[in-house]
Amino acid sequence: MRRPLRLMLMMSAASLLATAASLASVVSSSSERATAKKDHPPVTAMTGAACTNCHADILARRVMHGPAASGDCAACHIVTSSAGTRRIGLKGNASSRDTAALCVACHTDTADRLKQAHRHAPVASGNCSACHDPHGSAYRFQLPADGNQTCMKCHEDIAQALAQTHVHGPAVNACVICHDAHAAAHPAQLKAAGNDMCVACHVDAAADAAASDPRALFGPARIDGLDTLISKAPRILLEGSLTMGHPTRGHPVDARPDPAEKGRSLRCASCHNPHGSVGAKLLRFGATGVSSLCIRCHSF
Ligand code: HEC
Ligand code: HEC
Ligand code: HEC
Ligand code: HEC
Ligand code: HEC
Ligand code: HEC
Ligand code: HEC
Ligand code: HEC
Ligand code: HEC
Repeated sequence: MRRPLRLMLMMSAASLLATAASLASVVSSSSERATAKKDHPPVTAMTGAACTNCHADILARRVMHGPAASGDCAACHIVTSSAGTRRIGLKGNASSRDTAALCVACHTDTADRLKQAHRHAPVASGNCSACHDPHGSAYRFQLPADGNQTCMKCHEDIAQALAQTHVHGPAVNACVICHDAHAAAHPAQLKAAGNDMCVACHVDAAADAAASDPRALFGPARIDGLDTLISKAPRILLEGSLTMGHPTRGHPVDARPDPAEKGRSLRCASCHNPHGSVGAKLLRFGATGVSSLCIRCHSF
């Protein structure tokens, strides 16, 4: 339980910092140095210049969010009152930590996808702004950082795996090749059942009818470099509906209990770390050679 607890502490520290930073930016961008107890200045309208005269920083982002860019502040904000003090709050009882209902009111296709069985923790709690600035940011999709850095700020263990000498091309390229950032039908928000993911790139679909076409599985190449990764992936040979034949003839890769991890099935990730490792071929358990891997599950 140590890791999730540390993560939660990290997250709450990070969100405190973020809140402090955003409040600081409001105060400094404004001529009136208001304190938290004061009324919000009176507002004449809920749109455009009526707000951005004082909140110019909201519009000064490279990648703007549609409704903020068009000055439609009222799409999300309302004038409220807290203990007799005028505040500008969020519509529909949304809080800055839970905006899911507010967001999916416009993004209806996201709402459908969020109904899938395996939801990413910050998404499940409605914390959309953990990853998307509701107004805009310097990055695509209003993310807080470039590409994988969005994920690394909470997943320090994965950042460590990617700092190893042997790293997996797709993980360096984009976490979202394999994981859906929001939700998916498979554990760990994987876009396909464990091995299917790996097999799509590492078994030749043309040569083995049981393997699926990676371009069909990963969708049209919305992710830069995906086509190159698919074509560069070293191919392995499998037999018997892709459940055995690797790393040695007749060795199972599926449909057996994993002797190294109680309660889980043998899978590609039983022996390979999908992100990075100290030894070649992404071998798990710190194995730097094949024999130090085998003895994790066998005593020959
Ligand atoms: C006259 C300048 C001014 C105008 C106009 C203005 N604001 Fe503000 N706004 C401020 C200041 C100053 C604060 C910081 C208040 C505080 O911390 O108590 C603030 C704070 C906020 C906050 C944080 C929550 C709160 O109530 O403190 C939101 C949200 C907000 N403004 C939205 C808006 C929107 C939307 C509009 C247009 C309808 C708008 N503001 C118009 C000066 C202004
Ligand atoms: C898509 C919904 C949405 C729209 C549109 C929107 N906001 Fe916000 N706004 C939010 C949310 C959510 C927060 C709370 C952010 C947080 O805590 O991370 C917020 C917070 C703020 C704050 C206080 C904290 C900060 O980020 O500075 C200000 C000021 C603000 N909004 C002004 C505006 C103005 C001005 C507009 C119109 C130009 C606008 N907003 C349009 C959703 C929206
Ligand atoms: C009033 C309707 C509305 C609300 C509410 C709203 N959005 Fe949007 N959103 C839009 C529009 C319009 C666009 C720009 C058109 C587009 O690319 O889909 C957009 C674009 C986006 C994009 C970029 C999509 C892309 O393909 O580039 C993201 C990410 C996003 N919104 C997230 C959010 C989040 C998170 C919230 C809640 C804080 C939210 N939206 C609330 C209307 C809305
Ligand atoms: C852990 C980070 C993270 C959280 C939390 C998150 N998103 Fe996203 N979102 C992303 C990333 C990364 C993308 C870029 C496109 C992709 O990889 O699917 C994205 C893309 C989007 C898009 C545009 C493209 C698409 O897939 O339709 C919308 C809309 C969106 N998110 C809405 C939301 C809403 C609503 C929430 C809260 C319920 C939310 N997001 C929470 C990371 C996140
Ligand atoms: C705001 C913090 C935060 C961000 C940003 C974030 N995550 Fe997470 N993620 C979590 C938390 C909390 C959990 C649940 C605890 C855990 O299992 O580590 C989680 C769980 C996961 C899991 C499932 C772990 C499991 O064992 O089921 C995956 C996969 C994942 N995240 C991938 C990503 C990806 C990919 C991104 C970037 C698009 C990302 N995360 C960004 C906080 C975050
Ligand atoms: C090639 C596909 C692939 C890519 C790309 C990928 N992952 Fe994973 N990830 C997996 C698989 C498969 C698992 C499940 C491992 C298992 O079954 O033990 C996993 C598990 C995880 C977990 C759960 C904890 C763990 O270590 O098992 C987290 C968190 C995670 N990934 C985050 C990320 C982040 C962040 C990135 C981008 C830096 C990323 N992943 C890129 C395939 C991938
Ligand atoms: C029982 C452990 C084990 C399992 C399960 C396993 N592998 Fe391996 N894999 C290995 C070993 C050991 C090597 C290194 C073989 C060598 O160097 O001779 C390897 C090598 C590889 C290579 C590198 C091939 C090359 O030519 O460089 C790929 C790709 C690979 N495995 C993919 C997979 C995929 C995909 C799966 C799931 C279908 C999988 N592995 C399941 C142990 C395993
Ligand atoms: C999008 C395509 C893609 C997917 C999906 C994918 N891989 Fe790979 N994989 C590659 C490429 C490309 C390489 C070549 C070396 C590199 O860039 O890392 C590679 C290399 C490897 C290697 C050999 C590394 C070495 O040192 O030679 C192993 C083992 C491996 N992948 C296992 C997996 C496993 C296990 C999964 C599923 C969790 C998986 N791969 C999913 C593209 C993919
Ligand atoms: C993650 C655990 C794991 C690792 C690591 C592993 N194996 Fe296995 N191995 C299994 C399982 C599970 C079976 C099936 C056992 C059963 O059905 O009773 C198996 C079966 C075998 C068999 C008998 C099946 C056959 O005919 O091939 C041999 C031989 C074998 N493994 C050799 C190896 C070698 C050599 C290595 C190192 C390259 C290795 N194993 C690494 C889990 C593992």
